[in-house]
Amino acid sequence: MQEKISPAGRLEGSIRLPGDKSVSHRYGILASIAEGTSKIHHYSTGADCQSTLSCMRALGVTITRDDAGVVTVEGRGLDGLSKPAAELDAGNSGSTIRMLSGVLAAQNFTSSIGGDASLSRRPMERIMKPLELMGARIEARDGKYPPLTIHGAALKALRYEPPMASAQVKTCVLMGGLFAEGETTVVEKIRTRDHTEVALREFGADITVGGEEITVKGRARLQGRELSVPGDLSSAAFFLVAASILPESRLTIQGVGLNPSRTALLDWLMSAGARIKVVNIQEVSGELTGDLLVTGAPVAGGVIEGATTAALIDEIPVLSVLGAVSTNGLVVKDARELRVKETDRIATVAENMKRMGVAIEVQEDGFRVPGGQKFRAAAVDSFHDHRIAMAFAIAGLTAADTTAVENSEAASVSFPEFYATLRQISQ
Ligand code: S3P
Repeated sequence: MQEKISPAGRLEGSIRLPGDKSVSHRYGILASIAEGTSKIHHYSTGADCQSTLSCMRALGVTITRDDAGVVTVEGRGLDGLSKPAAELDAGNSGSTIRMLSGVLAAQNFTSSIGGDASLSRRPMERIMKPLELMGARIEARDGKYPPLTIHGAALKALRYEPPMASAQVKTCVLMGGLFAEGETTVVEKIRTRDHTEVALREFGADITVGGEEITVKGRARLQGRELSVPGDLSSAAFFLVAASILPESRLTIQGVGLNPSRTALLDWLMSAGARIKVVNIQEVSGELTGDLLVTGAPVAGGVIEGATTAALIDEIPVLSVLGAVSTNGLVVKDARELRVKETDRIATVAENMKRMGVAIEVQEDGFRVPGGQKFRAAAVDSFHDHRIAMAFAIAGLTAADTTAVENSEAASVSFPEFYATLRQISQ
């Protein structure tokens, strides 16, 4: 599909976003291996999170969704999953395949899990290695790519330090640890999003977090719960950037997740000059939420490096758009992980920047976008990557003419309502 983006002078209104993608995946998996019924309000409408639910259904879990969007999961307990009849389909979702592999590795059956063309190019050694150390045997295409065939085993507890900052790897190991006898510890030099730790506590797991270490005690029974997923801050990022760079914007985004391991985005934007107020802060199912009030303001740009790069990794495509129209531009360093996301996001950002007449200097692990530039209307491509589609739709708002986003449907991986929401608030 092709989406036409008309220029906009400002964003105005009040919106609510789909449930957080990261939190939804975790609730979907944990509710399935908990005992009893869980009700999940505001579960993400994105295709990735539906992939997690369809995999859990294929493993024998009864999951329904009512008209109000409430997802009900009839938990099967730690030992209640059954061998799927066919290969599990994780679609485009790296979170689904990596997190669920931790569960599959502990089953007394063999299963296979794969996904679409993009997922089939994403590296899996990062989860295969710890799961093999725990006792599972895993076969992969060319030794490292999906589909994976996972020969489950009675897992051994593990102490593991992932070689890269990755919440998916941490979650995979902790998921395996839930099934192992004894204590499994993940050591994190750079802290990553902690939704798994928060969710495990909510479901009643025995989890401790101290210093760099996260430890889960295996074989503890999880209890089904009624939970509510906060709005997705990574989806909010597109509108926070758009409202900041379109002068006279006044936008309210309600009920957004404000987990401190995710809010580096807000700190970075505010330090770049964005005018964002956070109000109505509450705690919901162990996660903080609040309303964001954003008004247009001149933005200076800045640098993203080190631990901040890890904390902002999903937001870098849209922050690159902000960088181009900021006064000083944007420098991104230490971002090698961008090369192995749904697309090589350094390459896809650079290609769309070029198409829109914006200069960018690319390095192996980052890029530099000079400030003070203008986006020219053009045909850009999502390259089948949701965040690239949405980032360049935002760039299109600032152009003088209509921008076409090719393969625009990619946005529905995390945010099916994105273009409709954008039209509703564009003036
Ligand atoms: C996620 C972790 C990040 C992020 C992804 C979601 C999660 O991936 O990019 O969109 O929910 O744990 P990595 O673990 O590969 O950094």
